Amino acid sequence: MKRSKKKQKPNAKLWGGRFTEDLNALAFEFSKSIHIDKRLYREDIAGSLAHIEMLAQKGIIAPSEASQIGRGLREIEKEIDEGVFPLDSGQEDIHLAIEQRLFEKIGNVAGKLHTARSRNDQIATDERLWLRSAIQTLAESVASLQRALLEKSDAHFGAIMPGYTHLQRAQPILLSHHLLAHIETFERDKSRLRDALARMNFSPLGAAALAGTPIPIDRHKTAKALGFAGIVENSIDAVSDRDYVIEFISACAIAMMHLSRLAEEWVLWSSQEFGFITIADAFATGSSIMPQKKNPDMAELVRGKTGRVYGALISVLTTMKGLPLAYNRDMQEDKVPMFEAFDTTKQCFDIFAEMARSTEFHESEMKKAVHRDFSTATELADYLTKKGVPFREAHEIVGNIVRFCVAERLLLPDLHLKTLHAFSPAFDDDVFEYLNPEKSPARKKSAGSTSPKEVAKQIAKWKRLLNLN
Ligand code: ARG
Repeated sequence: MKRSKKKQKPNAKLWGGRFTEDLNALAFEFSKSIHIDKRLYREDIAGSLAHIEMLAQKGIIAPSEASQIGRGLREIEKEIDEGVFPLDSGQEDIHLAIEQRLFEKIGNVAGKLHTARSRNDQIATDERLWLRSAIQTLAESVASLQRALLEKSDAHFGAIMPGYTHLQRAQPILLSHHLLAHIETFERDKSRLRDALARMNFSPLGAAALAGTPIPIDRHKTAKALGFAGIVENSIDAVSDRDYVIEFISACAIAMMHLSRLAEEWVLWSSQEFGFITIADAFATGSSIMPQKKNPDMAELVRGKTGRVYGALISVLTTMKGLPLAYNRDMQEDKVPMFEAFDTTKQCFDIFAEMARSTEFHESEMKKAVHRDFSTATELADYLTKKGVPFREAHEIVGNIVRFCVAERLLLPDLHLKTLHAFSPAFDDDVFEYLNPEKSPARKKSAGSTSPKEVAKQIAKWKRLLNLN
């Protein structure tokens, strides 16, 4: 291939010095990331501002140069904010696009910005800064769903429903208790995000390409200026890893797994088979052929979109698994999944919070369900145990009673004392108390149980923690 002497073009590559040929058009399209990483422009500029300030303080560039560059960068930020700077200006990524724009604005002094840094430490810094605020935003979305569930939990305090294991009716519980279980789960999701934040909040800036720099920079100064807790010390590690992206996505994936379980419950609960809730029309859709249908599409989509976030996690894990230290271009592939995980998770929590607020809970249907089953069977076994029957034996006796009821199409409260005596002489008049499912929750005594006393305590605690009055 003929190598012609390169001519300087207006949007020439900023790394073009050693090349005699332009990048192949397909190769450029293939490798550019500007259409994706443009989302990082604020972080990129913040990193650059901290960097030039430090360069000036260390006497590496003149204060006048630093202020010229700083002014230029702030203007560029404004241009991008206002949409007047078309980021797709022919540069491959956000770092180069901003730098090129700086050249256009302030001329050759722009060339001093990239002193003692590389795009490798730049991108790692940008991502960590971006994730820091993404995590705060996401934690707020999770909290808003927690608040919506807490409002319902408070409004329906005292309502009873069947608690399930294996999706079979197990024991009567308070609806509030069930909703509080989800609230507690989501609290761990927030704390997982915060843990990830604490681990990622270290600055890679100044690692340069991988080996550090002979220029006397102060990495601690830029770290501090950017609000990092310190520096990623080893300059090779600083530009090599994306574990912070993986940890973030995995926290999103776990949160989505939890949300998806809640979504699944609401799909079930809104069905005619359950009839426990009615999702507001504003969050349901109809069928194009069956006029009577009202479908819980938002809940289904939340369940479905969970797959995207899992996919994002596997994608970055796989991208990283075979890479030798330090930076490799493969790592550019981390951004689509990082943004995808954030966008999807945020959207799903936000929509669920809105939907939850307008969802109606049908206390009477839930109560009916509790009366239609054998959910006080454990209660009955506990009763016999209290009367001195060993628990295993009590379990067997009650099992026999349930078998009898199933055959006779009866429920436990339908039984007469005489019938019960045929199974065990330990039954007394007071047994009927125990057969009423509505009385069951209050009998629970253990911490965190479904007893109204414990549930009220939990509601009060969460109101405090989630700032709800
Ligand atoms: N766009 C690149 C990325 O996201 C930035 C770092 C480029 N570094 C390089 N040596 N090509 O990973």
